[in-house]
Amino acid sequence: MLFREETPVEVAFFEEAFQRYADRRVRRVFEPGCGSGRLVVAMAAKGYDATGLDLSDAMLNYMRRKLKRRGLTATCVKGDMTQLEFDKPFDAAFCTYNTFRHLLTEKDALAHLHSMADCLASGGIYILGMHLVPEEDYEAVVERFKTRQAGTTLSTTISVPHTDAQKRLETLRVKLRAVKSSGEVIRIQSEFPLRLYTPTQLKRLFKKVSDRFELVESFDFAYDIDDPLPFDKELLEGLFVLRKIAP
Ligand SMILES: C[S@@+](CC[C@H](N)C(=O)[O-])C[C@H]1O[C@@H](n2cnc3c(N)ncnc32)[C@H](O)[C@@H]1O
Repeated sequence: MLFREETPVEVAFFEEAFQRYADRRVRRVFEPGCGSGRLVVAMAAKGYDATGLDLSDAMLNYMRRKLKRRGLTATCVKGDMTQLEFDKPFDAAFCTYNTFRHLLTEKDALAHLHSMADCLASGGIYILGMHLVPEEDYEAVVERFKTRQAGTTLSTTISVPHTDAQKRLETLRVKLRAVKSSGEVIRIQSEFPLRLYTPTQLKRLFKKVSDRFELVESFDFAYDIDDPLPFDKELLEGLFVLRKIAP
């Protein structure tokens, strides 16, 4: 539920980006770290040959149930996004809202990008989105928001109880309180580490894979294809379009 309202906006952006930036027709799409399959299901519904990969059986099972309920097909794969292996190349891939930051070391981040390049066709694109942190000292903010869907109200609080600038790690705490139309209340709290990137650090990482990917354009979380933004120190909600370079 948390990102459901964003889904149509993201899907519209992906399709515009396929048109503008992919040097090939996009039919086969892939999402590493697809979670509950919010985007994979939406892309399958649009007629794409969609594949989602995740480490979590619970997430994959949820996605399978959702596909079945809607009479859709997509490929659901259990696997690690640092070691991708597929028989056929993808035309495009996407990984938004910080999933890439679940890779906690430079080694894993590079392994993922190399692996992704291996399973994309030449001219295919990879859309990558994540929060970046300011270059200078900063205070982590607490975010609170409410969403409503089918009689359920979801209150979300996202905070950062711990940051280790040396190790470039932060702990994200997500508290969810759902009130169903029946009045039943469900509370869920989870904490997990994410890797930190300043714009400079992410640029450096992209440079390390510049033999495999070119950075074609950058945007922010407004997902406005007509409003590309410079990749500078101001860009802290980064959405990047990378294109695979022909070997
Ligand atoms: C924020 S959730 C994904 C949300 C989903 N991408 C979306 O936008 O709706 C992050 C997901 O990444 C998965 N994940 C974390 N590390 C992974 C890895 N190394 N390989 C595959 N999946 C991973 C987690 O299991 C989790 O489902």
